[in-house]
Amino acid sequence: MTNAELERTTPRAAAGTRTTMAALVYHGPGQRAWEDKPRPTVQDPGDAIVRITTSTICGTDLHILKGDVPTVTDGRILGHEGIGVVEQLGAGVSEFHVGERVIISCVTACLKCDFCKRGMYSHCQRGGWILGNTIDGTQAEYVRIPHADGSLYHFPADADEEAMVMLSDILPTGFECGVLNGQVKPGDTVAIVGAGPIGLAVLLTAQFYSPGAIFMIDLDDKRLAVAKQFGATTLINSADGHAADRVMELTEGAGVDVAVEAVGLPATFAICQAVVAAGGRIANVGVHGKPVELHLEKLWDRNIAITTRLVDTVTTPMLLKVVRSGKLQPSQLVTHRFAMHDIMKAYDTFANAANEGALKVILTSGGLL
Ligand SMILES: NC(=O)c1ccc[n+]([C@@H]2O[C@H](COP(=O)([O-])OP(=O)(O)OC[C@H]3O[C@@H](n4cnc5c(N)ncnc54)[C@H](O)[C@@H]3O)[C@@H](O)[C@H]2O)c1
Ligand SMILES: [Zn+2]
Ligand SMILES: [Zn+2]
Repeated sequence: MTNAELERTTPRAAAGTRTTMAALVYHGPGQRAWEDKPRPTVQDPGDAIVRITTSTICGTDLHILKGDVPTVTDGRILGHEGIGVVEQLGAGVSEFHVGERVIISCVTACLKCDFCKRGMYSHCQRGGWILGNTIDGTQAEYVRIPHADGSLYHFPADADEEAMVMLSDILPTGFECGVLNGQVKPGDTVAIVGAGPIGLAVLLTAQFYSPGAIFMIDLDDKRLAVAKQFGATTLINSADGHAADRVMELTEGAGVDVAVEAVGLPATFAICQAVVAAGGRIANVGVHGKPVELHLEKLWDRNIAITTRLVDTVTTPMLLKVVRSGKLQPSQLVTHRFAMHDIMKAYDTFANAANEGALKVILTSGGLL
C-alpha cells in the first residue's frame, strides 16, 4: 500500500488482520442468520467503508423477510440505517475524512445523474435505495457506501447517535412521503394509518404545519398511546374493522384532507380510500407486496390525488437542523436496545412489536476487529 492510500485508512483498518465480519444475512422468505461474511473493501473511487456503531431495524426489513421485496436475494446483508466511523475512503471521496463519524442515508445518491439533479435521489441511476436491497447493508460490523459524498452526512459534534440514526430513513420518509406528498396544511384534518415508527414520524413532522386534527389508526393500543403523547388528537383502534366509519363520524361525513398509508397492506390502503375528503390527498408510504383494489367507482369524481414515493432523503439536511434545535426529539421512538451481535433477538422483538411494546430497536456495536 502506498503512503497516499494509507492516509485514507485508519491505523486499525490498516493493521487489521481479520478479513471477515459478522452480519445479519437474508436467506429467502422467513430465513435470516447472524453469520460471517467477507469484510467489505473499497471497490470504486467514490466508496467509503464505514464501521457501524449504531444501526436499527425498519418495517421494510420485515417486508423483505415476508418476501415482499423481490430485488433482495439470498445472501444479502440487510439494513439501510446506521451511524458509523469512516474506516477507509476511495480516492474520489472529497467531503469526508477517515476517522470521522457519519450518518448513513438509506438512499445512495451520485449527485450527478438526471434523477439526482432533480432531487429524486431515490431513483439515482447509480444508486437509489440499494443498501440492504441490491447491495449489502448496515446490519453488520462494516458496510461499503458507494458515492459516499452524496450518501453520508457529517455527524454533528456532541449529537446523540440514537436521535441521529432516525435521520437515516424514518424522519425523511415520514416527512417526504407522508407530509410533503400529502401537502399537509394549517388546519387540515389528517388520518395516519399505521402507528409504527414511520407513521409516528409522519405524526411528528406533520405538526410543522399545524394541522387541525390528527387521527391515528392502528391495531396496537400501546403504539396508539405513544401517538397520543406525540400529538395525535384522536386514537382509533381498527381491530373491529370499523376505523373508516369512525373517521367519517368524527368528520361529520366529510372525511379527511390527508390520509397517509403507513402500513403497506390492501386493508390499510382501503381505509385511506374510504376516508379521503373531496379535494383530499392519499399519500402512500407503505411498501406493498400485494395488489390493492382501487375504488375509482367511488373516487373518480372526488378531485383527489394519490401519491406514492420512495424516500429521496433530500430533506435530511433540514431535518438534521430541526433535530439539532431540539424541536424534534426522535430518540423518543427508541424502546429497546441490543448489542449488534444480539440482532436475531432484536428482530424477534421488532417483529413481535405489539407484545413487546417495541418501536425503534437500537443496535450498537463496538466494531471489534
Ligand atoms: N416509501 C418509503 O420510502 C418507505 C421507507 C421506509 C419504510 N416504508 C414502509 O413504511 C411502512 C411502515 O414502516 P414501520 O417501520 O413503521 O413498520 P411497522 O411494521 O413497525 O409498523 C406498521 C404498523 O401498522 C400496523 N398495522 C398493521 N396492520 C394494520 C391494520 N390492518 N390497520 C391498522 N394498522 C395496522 C401495525 O400494528 C404497526 O404498528 C412499512 O410498509 C415500510 O416498509 C416505506
Ligand atoms: Zn426503512
Ligand atoms: Zn444519481
